[in-house]
Amino acid sequence: MRFEFASIVVRLVRFLAPYRARVATAYVAMITGTLLALIVPAIIGWAVDVGLGTAAGAEAAMAVPGALAAWAPAVARAVGGAASAGREILLAAAVVVVAIAAVRGVLGFAEMYLGAWLSQRVAYDVRNRFFAHLQHLSFGFHDRAQSGDLMSRAISDISKVQTFLGEGLLEAVNVPILFASVAVVLFRAEPALAVVALSPLVLLVFVTLRFGQVIEPRFKAVQDQEGVIGTRAQENFTGMRVVKAFARERWEVARFTDANEDFYRRRTRAIAAFADFFPTMNAIVVLALVVTVAYGGRLVVDGAVTPGTLVSFTFWIALLGAPTQNLGFLVNRSSEAVAAGRRLFEILDTPSDIVERPGARALPPLAGRVTFDHVDFGYGERPVLHDVTFEAEPNQVVALFGPTGSGKSSVVNLIPRFYDVSDGAVRVDGHDVRDVTLESLRRQIAMVLQDTFLFSATLRDNVAYGCLDADEAAVVAAARAARAHGFIEALPDGYDTIVGERGVTLSGGQRQRVAIARALIMQPRILILDDAMSAVDTETEHEIRAALSELMRGRTTFIIAQRLLTLKNADVVLVMDQGRIVERGTHADLVAAGGLYARIYELQLRDQERLAGAGR
Ligand SMILES: Nc1ncnc2c1ncn2[C@@H]1O[C@H](COP(=O)(O)OP(=O)(O)OP(=O)(O)O)[C@@H](O)[C@H]1O
Ligand SMILES: [Mg+2]
Repeated sequence: MRFEFASIVVRLVRFLAPYRARVATAYVAMITGTLLALIVPAIIGWAVDVGLGTAAGAEAAMAVPGALAAWAPAVARAVGGAASAGREILLAAAVVVVAIAAVRGVLGFAEMYLGAWLSQRVAYDVRNRFFAHLQHLSFGFHDRAQSGDLMSRAISDISKVQTFLGEGLLEAVNVPILFASVAVVLFRAEPALAVVALSPLVLLVFVTLRFGQVIEPRFKAVQDQEGVIGTRAQENFTGMRVVKAFARERWEVARFTDANEDFYRRRTRAIAAFADFFPTMNAIVVLALVVTVAYGGRLVVDGAVTPGTLVSFTFWIALLGAPTQNLGFLVNRSSEAVAAGRRLFEILDTPSDIVERPGARALPPLAGRVTFDHVDFGYGERPVLHDVTFEAEPNQVVALFGPTGSGKSSVVNLIPRFYDVSDGAVRVDGHDVRDVTLESLRRQIAMVLQDTFLFSATLRDNVAYGCLDADEAAVVAAARAARAHGFIEALPDGYDTIVGERGVTLSGGQRQRVAIARALIMQPRILILDDAMSAVDTETEHEIRAALSELMRGRTTFIIAQRLLTLKNADVVLVMDQGRIVERGTHADLVAAGGLYARIYELQLRDQERLAGAGR
């Protein structure tokens, strides 16, 4: 667990690698600033001892003020002179303190600016990587993943990594450096007093470690729940029509409130840990000051240390106050970032199940022969297809027919290699689909998927989606063939009409026709229509099919449909049942054979024949 924590931190830090120079500059600025800050208490102590004459002539306990003593008259003259040696020293001390503050201001700007720049830049890089990786993950991954959860990772988790890697990490490095150098300075100034002053601070280490242990699981819990809330909300917004149709608003609100309340409770638990932590840390610093003053005061009275030294000590201890407070944020930020990083790496480390073989070659232009060779397939453990074997010749129209859930969509999903077979092989023109590059394969196949998805963009862009260099004429030709041109032209904005999210501003049939146009414009060698015309009327389907048979000359077409005309026009019908091809042949053969197809024909399809006959 600890080891994993460290390894995630290391992996997060690696995101900074491309920006080494800026990282180095930021750290140099920060460390220089911290070291300069340490000089100020020494100067003040010196000013007290020498300037106020409380320990006149005492040899300077500290090297820096020692050197300063020599310059003091010159510095004082430069700013206008002083009446006495004591005033000279006070003036010189003041000037140097102001100068240090000015330099620290510049360094602080560099540190803050670069810290913020780095965190924004890393967030930019990680967002891009995350998005790109999701594009390459397989259908299998996206079947399981929930888009709300992915959104929460892409937005909220990345922003947590972002704050940590910039300012957070700088602070994480700064705090130990500050503590260590304060300890060194204290010991050099007065070892006995240093031991007393620092001893309460040892508690800090324990309290901070303990806080880390308590807070980390609580933050992981918060972030997980954030994913749940994201998923609930996203699902609800997507399914709003179903919610309303079933009048389940109240139930949905209750369900969301539950998740939200859980989120709130987890957050409060995390905050409670904070509320505990901050006063404790504050008390420890105050304790250190108290013992310093109590013990140091006695040493001053005994004449063992100068008053200036005691003053310096209190200033040094006070320097630790703010960073100690920050320690809480720091621990919190790093544990948040590690929890977030873990969730990001969970995705980034997921390999795609569908990967190209090393040395996979681009598929040459296809004739369109598709072969299934004893294919077995399952989405997970459960087998879905058993021993599916067939061959589709170029130019053929193959219809897949069978009861719902019999595996028709599963068969066609294997052709563009959305999933891999568990046994056997799928070949196009004799090439195993696993041996060729995915892009060259999928460029030659166009699909109209069973559930139509349109992007919230113009109709033109939706049609041209797979073929971005398509000109207006190509878009119109595809839309005409899909019988979409007519209704698109009738819209006030024509092809510039922006369809709502997922195309909801269109009717189901219109949506399908746009999706068909989107497939046709690709001029694919293999065309797959998965229930692509279920929402268009018989008449329109007939027209589309007429246009298709023009367009599809020399192309192989797979068509999943329940309509008699489609089946009659297919060169071969594959009848599927429970993941097997149980019959095959032309419509006429199958009716004559008197099997499953013939039975379904008698029960359902015959009616269509009469209707279709009447319709024409
Ligand atoms: N993405 C998936 N993950 C897991 N199982 C799936 C997935 N898609 C389909 N299945 C399962 O595989 C089996 C075959 O489904 P498939 O979608 O191929 O049927 P179909 O013949 O296309 O049905 P329909 O006519 O209803 O579209 C079903 O039992 C289904 O539950
Ligand atoms: Mg299906």
